[in-house]
Amino acid sequence: MTPDARRPYIAGNWKMFKTAGEAREFTQKLLARLPMGNGVELALCPPFTALAATLDGLGGSEIKVLAQNMHQEPEGAFTGEVSAPMLVELGVHGTLLGHSERRQYFNETDRALQEKIPAALGAGLQPMLCVGESEDEREEGETQRKLRHQVQEALERVPDAQLADVVIAYEPIWAIGTGKVATAEMAQDAIGFIRALVGDRSKDAAERVRVLYGGSVKPENAAAILAQPDIDGALVGGASLDPDGLIEIVTAAAAQVQ
Ligand code: PGA
Repeated sequence: MTPDARRPYIAGNWKMFKTAGEAREFTQKLLARLPMGNGVELALCPPFTALAATLDGLGGSEIKVLAQNMHQEPEGAFTGEVSAPMLVELGVHGTLLGHSERRQYFNETDRALQEKIPAALGAGLQPMLCVGESEDEREEGETQRKLRHQVQEALERVPDAQLADVVIAYEPIWAIGTGKVATAEMAQDAIGFIRALVGDRSKDAAERVRVLYGGSVKPENAAAILAQPDIDGALVGGASLDPDGLIEIVTAAAAQVQ
């Protein structure tokens, strides 16, 4: 039985897409067409420059807004960075951390994540930690080793009592933006393994922590992935840029709670 705390969660990662004006237009279409009271937690992750417009456009709705990254220090001489208090003041609910594109192109390290996750939690922001193996690592049978390393390192400084406040997104790098989706079975295996890693720290947290799948999730494949017992939702990139595509994925998640 899935505990209540594991309400299905769909997050749309817009990456470096949408100006503030485009974000506002998106929110209007989304609110007009999204069936309310569907039991699914929905979040949008716009670029920093569109956070305020997205929040404003969503008004008093229950849809959450997450940033795509955050610096670990509350303030300082870190040109180009954004801190937790800055996000909190805007009304942002949480932040993606450790997305593979940040690890690959911007030198995001497990060491930095060790500080970022507690900093987010301390500020009252929900961290969504992204982990996942490359194609080479999967082919070499290194998937579990990589996931163990990423999950253990990133959560090292999170107290057991707060582990379930972190959302984890399993995103195999080879499936991101490539159209190559992991099979539902592959995603379930990796996510079951991630849940067990949290369980090595706290059995209670393992039952409550939400673990999402990400990587080429589309309206056509969402239902099969979301039906897996350990998969609590999806982190959706490309398909979240279109409100209708995102709504179809939310509808597939809602069918799981019926
Ligand atoms: P994708 O991206 O759905 O476009 O593969 C997922 C992500 O990077 O979060």
